[in-house]
This record gives sequence, C-alpha cells and structure tokens, in this order.
Amino acid sequence: MKYENFENSKVLVVGGAGFVGANLVKNILNETKNVLVVVVDNLMSSEKENLPNDFRLQFLKGSIVDDEILKHIDDSFDFIFHLATFHGNQSSIFDPLKDHENNTLTTLKLMNHIKDYKNLKKLVYSAAGCSCAEKTFDKACATDEEAPISLVQDSPYSMSKIFGEFYSVYFFRQHGLPTVRARFQNVYGPGEVLGAGEWRGTYATVWRNVTPTFIYKAINNEKIPLENEGIATRDFIFVDDICKGLMLCALNGTEGDVYNLGSGQETTIAELAEKIKLYSKSTSEIEYLPKRNWDNSGKRFASIIKSKQELGFKAVINIDDGLKTTIHWTKNNIDLINENIQKHSSHMDKI
Ligand SMILES: NC(=O)c1ccc[n+]([C@@H]2O[C@H](COP(=O)([O-])OP(=O)(O)OC[C@H]3O[C@@H](n4cnc5c(N)ncnc54)[C@H](O)[C@@H]3O)[C@@H](O)[C@H]2O)c1
Repeated sequence: MKYENFENSKVLVVGGAGFVGANLVKNILNETKNVLVVVVDNLMSSEKENLPNDFRLQFLKGSIVDDEILKHIDDSFDFIFHLATFHGNQSSIFDPLKDHENNTLTTLKLMNHIKDYKNLKKLVYSAAGCSCAEKTFDKACATDEEAPISLVQDSPYSMSKIFGEFYSVYFFRQHGLPTVRARFQNVYGPGEVLGAGEWRGTYATVWRNVTPTFIYKAINNEKIPLENEGIATRDFIFVDDICKGLMLCALNGTEGDVYNLGSGQETTIAELAEKIKLYSKSTSEIEYLPKRNWDNSGKRFASIIKSKQELGFKAVINIDDGLKTTIHWTKNNIDLINENIQKHSSHMDKI
C-alpha cells in the first residue's frame, strides 16, 4: 500500500532532536497541516533548541532503551523514524559500551517493544552507507543495495549500524514489522551544531563531521586539517534531500527493503576543502595530516538507481549550492556554535 502524505497521522522520531532528526521534524511539520510529531531524545549529541516551537510537536526527554520512555510508545503511531545513534565512529571506538547502549540497543528495544503493533504503517531505520561500502583507496564503484557486507568494520558505530539492519530484517520477517532501511551517505547542511550534546570522550564530540568542521575553520581563517592528502571520497547529500528521502521511504518504501539515499556523486575531501575555502572567502591554510589509523573507508559513493526507480527519490541540491547555504547558516549561528564548542573546552584541553 502507498501513502500520499503524513496528513492526519501520528509520527514518532527517535533521536529527533539531532541534526537530521530536527530537520526531518521541521520538514514534516512544514509539509503537513494536521499531524502530531512526538520526539524521543536523550540529548546525547543534540540540543533541545534544535526543535521548533510548534503545538503539533511533543518532546520526551530520555533514552528509548528506558522502559519508562517506552511506556509512552503505544500502538497509536502511524510512522516511526529511528534516528538515534551514539555519534560517531571515533566516540564509539573510545567507548564501545556507550555505543552499544545508544546505538545497537536502541534499535533492539524499540523494535521488540512495537513488534506486534497493528496500526504502524512504516518504521524507517537510518542505516549507514559507510558500513556497507567496499574498503578501497583505489577507484570506487557505486555501491548498490545488494553489495556484500564485510565482517571487517572500522568501528563499533559501523557495526551497530549493520546490527540495526539485521534487526530491521529480522523483525520484518519474524513479526511482520513494516521496516524500511534508509542507507545514508554523508549528510551536511544547516542545523549540525559542533559540540551539541554531552562530552562523548573524544575531540569528535566537537569536530563531529568533516563539512561543519571545515566550514567553521574556514570562517575563522584557521588551518583546515586534511588527512591523507584528502584523497578519500564521499557522497555528500544535503540535509533537506535526505529528509525528503526518509519521508519517501516511509510513504513509498517496500516493507523489509533497503534504499540508498545519496547524491550518487563522488567528491574528494581535498575538493570539499577547496570549495569551502572559496565560498567562505577564507584565507585558511591547509594543514596536511597523516591518515586516521582506524579509517579504511577510502573512496565511496552510492548507486541511486533503485531509490529513484522505486521511491521516486532524487537529491536536487548540488554540492556547491548546499555548501553556500550551510556556510550562510553557520555564519548566522556562530554564537550558538561557539557556545556549544566552549562547553567542552575543559575536556578538549586535556586531549
Ligand atoms: N549524518 C550523517 O552523515 C549520517 C550518515 C549515515 C547515517 N547516519 C545516521 O543517521 C542518524 C542521524 O544522524 P545525525 O547526523 O542526525 O546524528 P545526531 O547525533 O545529530 O543525532 C542522533 C540523535 O540521537 C540521540 N540519541 C542518542 N542516544 C539516544 C537514545 N538512547 N535514545 C534516544 N535518543 C538518542 C542524540 O541525542 C541525537 O539527538 C543516525 O542514526 C546516524 O547513524 C547519519
């Protein structure tokens, strides 16, 4: 069955105060008149201020693994988006148990709790393209949904994302839970606040992703750190595009299936740095650093054929326009970002 939109529905977004989650909530509220959105988030890597003030939005602060929180998740939801994670690779290497609790266990407890629900039309799980891509620094091929997945993974985070896929498939096959897996490529855009949330044990609490890090450094004319000469490639997708893709997974996705959400375009990290320098009119120098010892995921991008054919999905924001918008947002929100970075200064000083 296909669904037209979210009109007259009740939507749960787990991890909904986060970067992608808060953007998704805003997209759903903007595009729907009559909808109730409930967000569950323990604010581990986000701030409540990410969420809009809207009478159609309810916020429950807490972990989805907590039984007291799960009591609120009854069989009245039409759609669930599960975006909670322990952000990200480096922090999961530092603290694999916290990753387990806030990444793997979130998926298991949520799906086990709702497995017999009858009203639910779709649960969309946020999987990660990085877990599935071939580990190569040679020429990459577009990774399609059927690509084999290796047991050799770079981090507990990456393993947890695959476990989330295992549980999505298992609960669909065993219990008929209508799961759809959305495999994200690298998302960037407005709303990703450096330093948001709690200290998670590594500098990646602040420098949480390559795009916001480079933009912040470029705006401040600080050195831009480029590991391994920036030869790695990623498939960058603007956050509004990923939100549209997630909504299409919920509305058009086939139960039990998986879809890549990416731009299908490969960009080197060195090109990303140059574009950001150019669009922010920065005088930053490039600081050349060695390859990160844990990161073997060299070159990768997604095949977008299946999501186009079956979901009607296509990323529409090109990287140049997306970066310009993100730079503009970062400049306008620099005080908020500085506040969140500052919050961790005592930890960062000790590293
Ligand atoms: N951003 C990307 O480039 C990217 C790429 C691939 C996959 N993903 C996946 O997309 C999802 C969203 O990513 P994001 O970039 O918005 O990250 P994020 O860190 O901004 O959002 C994750 C949210 O989950 C919340 N959370 C953590 N533990 C929780 C728990 N136990 N209960 C409830 N909430 C909890 C965090 O506080 C945060 O708000 C994640 O599952 C991530 O693995 C993201």
